[in-house]
Amino acid sequence: MASRIEDSGGLSPEGTERLLKLLAGRPRRLSFAEIDGRTVWIKRFDAETAPVATRLHAAVSPLLPFRFLRASPHVDAEGSAERETRKAARFAAAGFPVPAILWRGGAVVVFSEVVEIAEPMLDRLRGHDPVRHDELLVELAAALGRAHAAGLCHGRPHPRDMFRRADGAWGFLDFEEEPEAAMPLACAQARDVWLLFLHLVGWAQADHTVAAAFAAWRAEAPAGVVPELGRIMSLFSVLLPGLKFLRPLGLGKDGRRLLEGTSFLRGALRAPPDASPAVAAGKPKPHRIGTRT
Ligand SMILES: Nc1ncnc2c1ncn2[C@@H]1O[C@H](COP(=O)(O)OP(=O)(O)O)[C@@H](O)[C@H]1O
Ligand SMILES: [Mg+2]
Repeated sequence: MASRIEDSGGLSPEGTERLLKLLAGRPRRLSFAEIDGRTVWIKRFDAETAPVATRLHAAVSPLLPFRFLRASPHVDAEGSAERETRKAARFAAAGFPVPAILWRGGAVVVFSEVVEIAEPMLDRLRGHDPVRHDELLVELAAALGRAHAAGLCHGRPHPRDMFRRADGAWGFLDFEEEPEAAMPLACAQARDVWLLFLHLVGWAQADHTVAAAFAAWRAEAPAGVVPELGRIMSLFSVLLPGLKFLRPLGLGKDGRRLLEGTSFLRGALRAPPDASPAVAAGKPKPHRIGTRT
């Protein structure tokens, strides 16, 4: 893949002046504006302090017995901006589309706009083209596998943080997490897979799609990630009977995702790598008709 950034130009002097005026008004954490005749996205990492739970997680992380549960190392607002730009640059250097960084100052980063973000594309397709909808899910999983094969870890992959460039290549945005700095890379990549699949199981319209997505990730990703994923699944499998028991009483969105995603991945890891999607998919899932969790 050629190394290419979406848009390599920075802001003009007039654009920079306009940006500084906007920043003086202390915009929200994430906003967009028209500057130099185009839409730019402004991310201010100093607009909100991390929630208490996040800070607590970072504080107790070194003590956690399971390394994949560790938080990304805690950094201040400027450190978060630096992390976002550094990780975006690594993805770009490996040939993945990322929004161009047009300006950076302290805790503020300004990005070019990317248009074809996966989540709204999926929302549009869901009602009238479920086949294409599910094909996109498989493409997202394959893209994550390619990123892993390139030695990268996203940290919190989600369809709202993936986009398709005009040439069809899938790219990423939102690089605020850095689990690979808190655990071995393969473990952080396994965590990526787990997080993405917690979403995909709720979105897929057809029963075989999630297995096809997993096969697509696996075909691209380094083999060393699979045993790490197995370790994550063994730990969470302990929770499955309890979650299954609670399901009829109502688990809430997150509990349902955890149950379905973990059950799926556990089954998929038990199936041989070349099993057909239907075999690897395990039991059919009765709950999806045009909605996602
Ligand atoms: N450069 C961009 N171009 C287009 N949309 C963007 C851009 N940056 C952010 N967004 C939109 O805003 C959402 C949230 O931005 P993100 O960087 O992921 O922040 P958060 O940490 O709040 O998730 C993204 O999922 C995307 O829909
Ligand atoms: Mg995001």
